[in-house]
Amino acid sequence: MNPEALLCLLPEGVEPWEDLVRRTGLPLPTLQEVVSYLQKQGFPVLKEEKGAGIAPGSLAPQHFLPRLRGKFGRHYRYLGVVSSTQDVLREWAGAAPGAVVAAEQQTCGRGRLGRRWESPPGNLYFSVLLTTEVDSLLPLRAGVALREAACVGKLKWPNDLLAPDGRKLAGILIERCGERVLLGVGINVEVAPFPTAAALSEFREVHRAQLLADFLWALEEWLAEKPELVLTTWKEANATLGKPLRVRVGEKVVEGVGVDIGPRGELLLRTSDGVCAVHAGEIETVNPG
Ligand code: BTN
Repeated sequence: MNPEALLCLLPEGVEPWEDLVRRTGLPLPTLQEVVSYLQKQGFPVLKEEKGAGIAPGSLAPQHFLPRLRGKFGRHYRYLGVVSSTQDVLREWAGAAPGAVVAAEQQTCGRGRLGRRWESPPGNLYFSVLLTTEVDSLLPLRAGVALREAACVGKLKWPNDLLAPDGRKLAGILIERCGERVLLGVGINVEVAPFPTAAALSEFREVHRAQLLADFLWALEEWLAEKPELVLTTWKEANATLGKPLRVRVGEKVVEGVGVDIGPRGELLLRTSDGVCAVHAGEIETVNPG
């Protein structure tokens, strides 16, 4: 039996060794060796004196797939440590639309605008393959789906999910690759990996596989939703409009107040020179005074 096949047989929590031996047909020493190997590969496998299993919230297919409600995620790869789930998905020949790659850790996780995405164990890292036509509202659609699945926080333009106190809970990276769109999501579930980050588990109980399934279902729905509803829902959940902002667009910095979101998802900023539209960039809130 290959290690991945054993991974797909492990229950959540610890199952006694004798039961595992009976179920897998493997001798105890081999079983224990494979369990140790899976741990080294970065999977949250539990190995105790009395038995083995997977930590609760497991993303292993047998615990994740039954939670799916729609089409997304049915084509699924679950990995331990990877460079970036975006790269694994890009190289997955034959991946169908809605295919998902999830990993426990990333060594080269990427954020928006060339930043690094810290990816320690305990959080959620995944990429979804989309084949949508060019849709300028895609970042907002994904942000609304993320907010809906997380049930906590507010959206910072275009789609960062912030905790009620403004710390970052999750982010979305959208990369195009010919006809294909790679939509990568990182959610800080258990670990806040930098000082201005928060963990979702500070605010609610989280089962990672359920959260992933909830996001995929919400994404599928929001991708099909009318633009007007996407915009109003995004605005209801936003933490950006009405605030004095500083926006970095490449080397340029623009300051103004966020007044609205345009029909193509652009941020409308009232500056001293009038209203200007920002289509991409990094925003930060300016503290008055
Ligand atoms: C951001 O807020 O800057 C976007 C962060 C996106 C991180 C996710 S984690 C899964 C996927 N793989 C990556 O390398 N990046 C995205």
